Amino acid sequence: MADLYAVIGGSGLYTLDEQFQIESAEKLQTPYGDTSTELQIGLWQGHRVAFLPRHGASHQVPPHKINYRANLWALKNIDITHIIAANAVGGIDSRYGPLALGLPDQIIDYTSNREHSFFDGESGEVEHIDFTQPYSQTLREAIIRAARKSHSDLIDGGTYGCTNGPRLETAAEIKKLKMDGCSIVGMTGMPEAALARELDIEYASIVLVVNWCAGIGDKAITMEEITTVLRQGVDNIRQLVSDTLSQVKI
Ligand code: HPA
Repeated sequence: MADLYAVIGGSGLYTLDEQFQIESAEKLQTPYGDTSTELQIGLWQGHRVAFLPRHGASHQVPPHKINYRANLWALKNIDITHIIAANAVGGIDSRYGPLALGLPDQIIDYTSNREHSFFDGESGEVEHIDFTQPYSQTLREAIIRAARKSHSDLIDGGTYGCTNGPRLETAAEIKKLKMDGCSIVGMTGMPEAALARELDIEYASIVLVVNWCAGIGDKAITMEEITTVLRQGVDNIRQLVSDTLSQVKI
């Protein structure tokens, strides 16, 4: 089976760039319910690519209400083999300041009450996936190569702590996450990465830091600050995904 790539957009990334020639856009029903919004399929960088913004077309679905299983099932159903996900995060580690782009290599899941597995006992099938390395190393390497080639700054590695949201964390929670080894914190990394693994899809996440986490910076975090940084940084994610796709051999 040929490789087929999908991009899952996060906060701020609701469209690919103007070169994406959309051939179809459908909101799909799955055994798990509806996808966040229409799944677009089209040509981008010489490849057929699917695009799905996980928060909906204009950020109407909050992180804890996203139907991650429907989104991932729909992508598997059209034979997607690779997913490049974009996620906005807060930074804890000093390397991860606002506007930094990173490629985490580990995750800690702090979420609760999310439908987080296809192996929920309902279908009679139970499997325990290996998740020692939660991200696809081959896909990570392709992204790193693309970043090097285009001289874009990309932090290679870091632990993504996934909280439930939608509220941001307390300073004490961030202190604890830091002691746990988290470098960045977001609300959408899980269960998406694990569901992709359950479906045997190669998955990597490019993160854009949009704020210092609670208690790390010297001021309160405002949505205004987050939105401004998102607006400034989202084109860098688009560019990196586009560069990666233009360089992978499919
Ligand atoms: N915490 C959790 N998720 C986030 C943050 C944060 O500070 N910023 C963007 N997503």
